[in-house]
Amino acid sequence: MSASQSSQSSQFAKQPVAPVFTPALSPAEGSRAAATLFREVFAAEPDGVWYAPGRVNIIGEHTDYNGGLALPIALPHRAHLALRRREDRTVRLVSSRDPGAVEVLDLDAVGPVGTPGEVSGWAAYVVGVAWALEHDGAGTVPGFDAALVSCVPLGGGLSSSAALEASTAVALDEVGALGLAGTVEEPDDAGRARLVTSCVRAENEVAGAPTGGMDQSASLRCRAGHALELDCRDGSVRHVPFDLASQGLSLLVIDTRAEHSLTDGQYGARRASCEKAARILGVDLLADLDPSDLATALARLADSAEPDAVELVKRTRHVVTEIERTRALTRILTSGQPLTGEVLERVGGLLDASHESLRVDYECTGVELDTAVEAARAAGAHGARMTGGGFGGSAIALVDSQDVEAVAEAVVAAYDRTGLRAPAFLDATPSAPAGRLG
Ligand code: GLA
Repeated sequence: MSASQSSQSSQFAKQPVAPVFTPALSPAEGSRAAATLFREVFAAEPDGVWYAPGRVNIIGEHTDYNGGLALPIALPHRAHLALRRREDRTVRLVSSRDPGAVEVLDLDAVGPVGTPGEVSGWAAYVVGVAWALEHDGAGTVPGFDAALVSCVPLGGGLSSSAALEASTAVALDEVGALGLAGTVEEPDDAGRARLVTSCVRAENEVAGAPTGGMDQSASLRCRAGHALELDCRDGSVRHVPFDLASQGLSLLVIDTRAEHSLTDGQYGARRASCEKAARILGVDLLADLDPSDLATALARLADSAEPDAVELVKRTRHVVTEIERTRALTRILTSGQPLTGEVLERVGGLLDASHESLRVDYECTGVELDTAVEAARAAGAHGARMTGGGFGGSAIALVDSQDVEAVAEAVVAAYDRTGLRAPAFLDATPSAPAGRLG
């Protein structure tokens, strides 16, 4: 190429696209927006506005339905639900995403997927919670009108559905006088654990997504400034201090904008493989396996006559090693050691190893997630991994706070080079659980 050609091509070289951050509405802004939508559509005052956060999981992926450990934080991005109790069993719903469409449902007609009461779309997550609360014996739930304003990206693997379920649960807890949630300042954790159970039931049975419960637990049981160590064997939790900002670190969320779905069969297939492996190995849940006997367990699976023996080995290896990585990271975070030097390297190494295990053994990443993770690491992230269910959705990168922009730019550039649609970014400050403003 001649000198003049080269200067011409650099003159027309594409400018790197600036990273776009998805802002979080504050509880006050979100509540105001939801109340305004409610007034416009229903020409009445709501009884209140309740909100619930999305989440990112720091580590412990695909462990929840195996009875293992997970370590999520609540995001500052929330679903806000303005709601007014009705005296009948009618539910009317509207969302800011489609303010012209009001869905009208009858609580007495709601039923699980595959029954005449099946509900489609986002309404399933809302009336599903009402249905599940009643079926779980929490009390009788009144009909209601509700307006939703959510800033949790849809299909971004950041639990927009759990945020919707949890905001419905705390709203119905209050207007239905169920007495389970307590307040944000003084949460009733045992009561919230019951709300989690009903939200999971709503998602599994009414929305038809066979998910495990980590997301709903994060949305209802997290604490600001903390990660939630969740033991899915018995539902017990520990609040682990997680203040990255004071250590000059940030958790950058990369929303690949490759939509992921928990109802398309892939997630269910992974869960079914784990249950099958547990049956073959004679344990209730894969979390019951002793990590020091992993090699023997894997050999048994490999020697089984099952046509999917190879998958069973890989899925089991991921689950057991991921629980160990979660334990190791929690140990570091609770030790109070500053996240610098070798400790920081260990933390980053655990995140990287988690991604590798999800990529190779669980086979739930994909080009968007892998590109994000590799580019973030190459640009100086201490560690990076996919978060949530996978197959699209979001990744996280642990970065020095001063490098957030540079790492985000590097990811955008890598997407551009690979021919992928530009990703979006979010700030992941560990935030408060579901509640009500004021
Ligand atoms: C989704 C599910 C969770 C969990 C994660 C993977 O977010 O909703 O229950 O299984 O995937 O860790």
